[in-house]
Amino acid sequence: MSTHETVETFAPDPDFAAQANARAEDYERASADRLAFWDEQARRLDWSTEWSEVLDWSDAPVAKWYVGGTLNTAYNCVDRHVEAGNGDRVALHWVGEPTDDARDITYAQLKDEVSRTANYLSSLGLVAGDRVAIYMPLLPETYIAMLACARLGLTHSVVFAGFSAQALRSRVDDAEAKVVITADGQFRRGKPAPLKDGVDEALGDSLDSVSGPAESVQKVLVVRRTGIDVDWQSDRDVWWDEVIPEQSADHTPEAFDSEHPLFVLYTSGTTGKPKGIIHTTGGYLTQASYTHHVVFDHKPGEDVYWCTADVGWVTGHTYGVYGPLSNGATCMVYEGTPNSPDEHRHFQIIEKYGVSIYYAAPTLIRTFMKWGRQIPAGHDLSSIRLLGSVGEPINPEAWRWYRDHVGGSAVPVVDTWWQTETGAIMISPLPGVTAAKPGSAMRPLPGIDVSIVDGDAREVAAEDQGYLVITEPWPAMLRGIWGDMERYRDTYWSRFAEEGYYFAGDGAKWDADGDLWVLGRVDDVMNISGHRISTSEVESALVGHDAVAEAAVVGAADDTTGQAIVAYVILRESADDSEERHRALIDELRAAVSRDISPIAKPRDITVVPELPKTRSGKIMRRLLKDMAEGREGGDTSTLSDPTIIDQIKSKGVKG
Ligand code: PRX
Repeated sequence: MSTHETVETFAPDPDFAAQANARAEDYERASADRLAFWDEQARRLDWSTEWSEVLDWSDAPVAKWYVGGTLNTAYNCVDRHVEAGNGDRVALHWVGEPTDDARDITYAQLKDEVSRTANYLSSLGLVAGDRVAIYMPLLPETYIAMLACARLGLTHSVVFAGFSAQALRSRVDDAEAKVVITADGQFRRGKPAPLKDGVDEALGDSLDSVSGPAESVQKVLVVRRTGIDVDWQSDRDVWWDEVIPEQSADHTPEAFDSEHPLFVLYTSGTTGKPKGIIHTTGGYLTQASYTHHVVFDHKPGEDVYWCTADVGWVTGHTYGVYGPLSNGATCMVYEGTPNSPDEHRHFQIIEKYGVSIYYAAPTLIRTFMKWGRQIPAGHDLSSIRLLGSVGEPINPEAWRWYRDHVGGSAVPVVDTWWQTETGAIMISPLPGVTAAKPGSAMRPLPGIDVSIVDGDAREVAAEDQGYLVITEPWPAMLRGIWGDMERYRDTYWSRFAEEGYYFAGDGAKWDADGDLWVLGRVDDVMNISGHRISTSEVESALVGHDAVAEAAVVGAADDTTGQAIVAYVILRESADDSEERHRALIDELRAAVSRDISPIAKPRDITVVPELPKTRSGKIMRRLLKDMAEGREGGDTSTLSDPTIIDQIKSKGVKG
């Protein structure tokens, strides 16, 4: 990580500060009375029934925020803007991957489409609390589907369309989804790729099916996107364009309890099975909306706001959909990859639509750096007035490059730390108020209390590394893990149970100025291009292959992706021990991981090894594997059962 010596500090720009949504006194107000502060922020939304209490923490760690309050999320994100006279404002500037494909959707149009879709979903007999899986590329219909679910109180589970059929199936089963919404295919790097095929495979009715029929699923609603051929089950599958347009555009939203589950989103934990993180309505929307307003300094009707994350991730939920739409934002939505048809695509979009707020992941910024400064320099990016970063620590070099070459040197850069579990941004500079330092997430937001502690829950001194904990409940906090409240308590609340701290799983430090630096995960979770993948998830995919006896996976530093997956495998005994066979197996193993999890989880390197470094008690010493993967020599091998093992791996391992 960054060393403190090289750090520059950028003071807030006075012109920016003069117009900023955030004020320095917000910090004082929130620390004087945290719940009064959150009470005030909730009033930015429209509620049908007022709450009787801001927070009920009597059943900790299960929180209730805005007790007894009722509201409708879709009404807050759509209808109220139309009622306020902003129906003609563009809600979504959607751009498809093929260059001639674009659609603008106003708030009034969005209201009609969401209402039609809600009417259709109700006609299927779905009622509030039922689950709907959404497995879609970034299309207007994806937004419409999510908002239609929210309007009806259906809990959506968005599954990233890059995930495998197997991953989709386990999520559909875990949440017992009644409906799956998908598309025939998606455009990727200029070509249509099938998507519905994966759904058929997941649901158990194709020859390649992952297992028997998925019992819970009654309907599959399919958006026609690419026109590629699909198999069809006429009693189950329905084309979106054959049922939605004929529905009435009138739909009266019902208000739901503040604690009604809005969505479940699966994320990797330290064990193999992804966790369904539960988010509810009132607290989530309050913090999503407030943070979008202040961290991005968003001005409705003026800004064009672009969060580049896919809706398959939490960033896409909170800052692609709910945060911005609750604030009446005009959002850029781009379906494809940043280099399709070439590396200019994002910059062309910024220029054409006058994007003013741009929010991306460090891995994308480092990719831009590799492509070279001449690419952004070829475009008029003067509309940009704020840049955001999320998903992994941003190295100072990437931070500066981003500010200089995308932001034209003067704009605030907000490095935002948060997690699927926190639901919304927790630590970030406030533009116009806080200074910024390349590489630092700076300060917890007003109303958020964090600490950095050692293993005994004692606060660490400045410059000392410790565990990042959240010391007070916050409105957008997860309410549990779907179907497994025990795991919820265990994973997040048992490490510092006595103090009642939430354990984030990240290491961090305060610098001498009292600013916070997030240093990366302290558990077995890797961060690949901002995506969370657990080492054990990849290990179980590898040992799922017949030829593999044992596997160990580590995350190794990588210039572009932040971390890369590096795997070491021991093969079962075989008559054929040739290097050729090992190489063929390495290819098979990569394919197996891709199929079981996602291409994102494919190891960069796989080495077939005779043995793994283990302690005398048989525990794999990942630290040594990580040293080796990152090219470091000479770690302490004294506790190994066989101290020569590292040399053996280096001399005999077959790497591919
Ligand atoms: O390790 C932290 C890292 O991403 C993890 C959360 O991953 P996920 O739930 O997938 O959500 C990503 C988008 C919010 C964290 O535990 N992380 C996220 N943002 C930052 C970060 N690490 C350093 N700096 C950040 N700004």
